[in-house]
Amino acid sequence: MRIVDIIEKKRDGHALTKEEITFFIEGYTNGEIPDYQASALLMAIYFTDMTDEERANLTLAMVASGDQIDLSAIDGIKVDKHSTGGVGDTTTLPLAAMVAAVGVPVAKMSGRGLGHTGGTIDKLEAIDGFHVELSTADFTQQVNEIKMAVVGQSGNLTPADKKIYALRDVTATVSSIPLIASSIMSKKIASGADAIVLDVKTGDGAFMKTVEDAERLAHAMVKIGNSVGRKTMAIISDMSQPLGLAIGNALEIKEAIDTLKGNGPEDLQELCYVLGSQMVVLGGHATTLQEARAQLEEVVANGKALQVLREFISAQGGNADVVDHPELLPQAKYITQLVAKQSGYIAKLEADDIGTAAMLLGAGRATKESEIDLAVGLVLNKKVGDYVEKGESLVTIHANRQAITEVEQKLYQHIIITEQAVQAPTLIHTVITK
Ligand code: URA
Ligand code: CA
Repeated sequence: MRIVDIIEKKRDGHALTKEEITFFIEGYTNGEIPDYQASALLMAIYFTDMTDEERANLTLAMVASGDQIDLSAIDGIKVDKHSTGGVGDTTTLPLAAMVAAVGVPVAKMSGRGLGHTGGTIDKLEAIDGFHVELSTADFTQQVNEIKMAVVGQSGNLTPADKKIYALRDVTATVSSIPLIASSIMSKKIASGADAIVLDVKTGDGAFMKTVEDAERLAHAMVKIGNSVGRKTMAIISDMSQPLGLAIGNALEIKEAIDTLKGNGPEDLQELCYVLGSQMVVLGGHATTLQEARAQLEEVVANGKALQVLREFISAQGGNADVVDHPELLPQAKYITQLVAKQSGYIAKLEADDIGTAAMLLGAGRATKESEIDLAVGLVLNKKVGDYVEKGESLVTIHANRQAITEVEQKLYQHIIITEQAVQAPTLIHTVITK
């Protein structure tokens, strides 16, 4: 087989065989195929697309390029959730504790964040004593006993995806549905999930700016998952404004706790129930989404979900007292209010730029090497559609330095207030179950 023939075939719009796709992935991962030929093939895929079968084969070839986590020692169906990324997305922790309380095992590998705010691992480190390194034996035992564990990424998962993603980044081939879908799904499958729930974000703060594009991506991923034996469902949710109210690591832990007490921000609470319902159905603990939702609402109302969070924090060395005393979380030195300069309706809270403002305070990483300040961040006091009086607080800023003019300026620039009434955006655009 010659890579040049494969490039030509794809350039002319023909479907590649499993062997051809595997030849490319193996050859590129081990360095036998140079960047220039891989770039040409990626561009051909960008323009001529791939069939469902090609997409599945590409995903499986990327899975096979590295280690695969074996979760078979954990009882039950392991369901994982993936979000395509957003600002202040506090979902993972409350969602995990809720579905674990219903009985679905959550064996999660999570990453650190880049940009906006930290990843789930960074947020958890805001809890005193919490550690994210567990041996495989301890990880398995913990999930079997309390149904929930979260560890940092380890092992050499999908090296083909790492190399291809870096190449796509510099060859204008990131925004291709078959390439994005196979990239995301290969990582989920290599992490050992039996079933997968996808939260595909849409809006200014998301990768997919329109609902139609987000739906195309979601359908592509759901098809890949189901065709390779991992049951997959998805939703399309709004990311035109940050999710919930808190953006920042310790602040989001507090928000997660509130959500497990049933007092979370409306959008975050709802998103947890919608995604959780899919996880509970895929995990085999309910047959309909309605039945699953009732179970989730029950474990929140009766405190079981909160109890899972306490046990999970203790099991990983953290101080579970934070659940009842969130003031034990790291606190910022300076708390100030960003007040409205005019009365009116909130028309826009531009997710990306508000995320950048939180990052400027130190809540996120500008580069992989940056240190995160776990205490700092933003708490929104208004969301899109709300009315605000001149002089009322729009945002509470938690900072560890006094000079925050550039943060305030950024926020004023990207919080748009209008005289006309504004509708709150739809939170859940689409629910995809097959
Ligand atoms: N996220 C990924 O993991 N891969 C992509 O290709 C795009 C977003
Ligand atoms: Ca949030």
